[in-house]
Amino acid sequence: MLDTTREIVDGLMQPLATVSPKYFYDARGSALFEEITRLPEYYPTRTERAIMQRHGAEIARRLGPGRTVIELGAGNCEKARELCEAIAASRFVALDISEEFLHQSVARLRAEMPSLDVRAVAADLSAEIVLPPEVPPEKRLVYYPGSSIGNFDPPQALALLTRMRHLLQDDGALLIGVDLRKDVAVLEAAYDDAAGVTAAFNLNVLTHLNRLIGSDFSLRDWRHRAFYNARASRIEMHLEAVADCAVQWAGGGRAFARGERIHTENSYKVDIEGFVHQLDEAGFKRTVVWTDERRWFAVVLACP
Ligand code: AVI
Repeated sequence: MLDTTREIVDGLMQPLATVSPKYFYDARGSALFEEITRLPEYYPTRTERAIMQRHGAEIARRLGPGRTVIELGAGNCEKARELCEAIAASRFVALDISEEFLHQSVARLRAEMPSLDVRAVAADLSAEIVLPPEVPPEKRLVYYPGSSIGNFDPPQALALLTRMRHLLQDDGALLIGVDLRKDVAVLEAAYDDAAGVTAAFNLNVLTHLNRLIGSDFSLRDWRHRAFYNARASRIEMHLEAVADCAVQWAGGGRAFARGERIHTENSYKVDIEGFVHQLDEAGFKRTVVWTDERRWFAVVLACP
């Protein structure tokens, strides 16, 4: 059995079935995520952009020109283009799990910024991050915007931050966006929008699984659920069976009772103090934090 198939089947066979959120991002999932970022309810993208615009000059001054920007989960590369311009970066390395989507985005960026040296690397951030040998080790800036770190459980997040630290020499830096704790109604609306885009994004994972493991999930049997788990300080997304149903895949299958769920994503919401402490544990000793007026989101510059 392929590793991917084994990982997916293992998750589906758990008493409380799970699927890693990394399987959201096939070409359609990546396009739906882009749509999410423009929704009125989904505040993180625009709040982070406003912080970056407001403090861009100071960020540029602190980093200096000529950096190699390494973006993890680069997606459409739009944020990277703005950052590379603002800090006069000389090189950009885009890492993303969705290879097809990444190549289109990188081609567009090359056309828009011909003087920037741009490279695309397909990478799964839950594993070791390996950069091509031609990426210079000095003056690296790891860029991890969008609060994507929140999609990892705290121990996994610490491990990922530590892997980021290992990509850097002492002159390196990390620029990272994190989503802060806030009113539950605001949080829940952001993950269950009125237009149903987040629901389509969540359900699309089943179509992706059907392709990856040859399963026969019928999307009509499932509905989107998203709620805030205050004890764990996270939004949880699930798919809930609307009727008793059975799913088959090559070599196996499982029955789901009505109301049973597949847990598809966690999105942790943090407080600044706790996050700075986690950065410290990962080897980032100096931090500067910028937030918006409502303190909904934070951008953190962290150095060894
Ligand atoms: C990519 N990540 C930071 C998004 C989030 O907010 O956790 C994924 C997402 N899931 C539903 N809406 C957006």
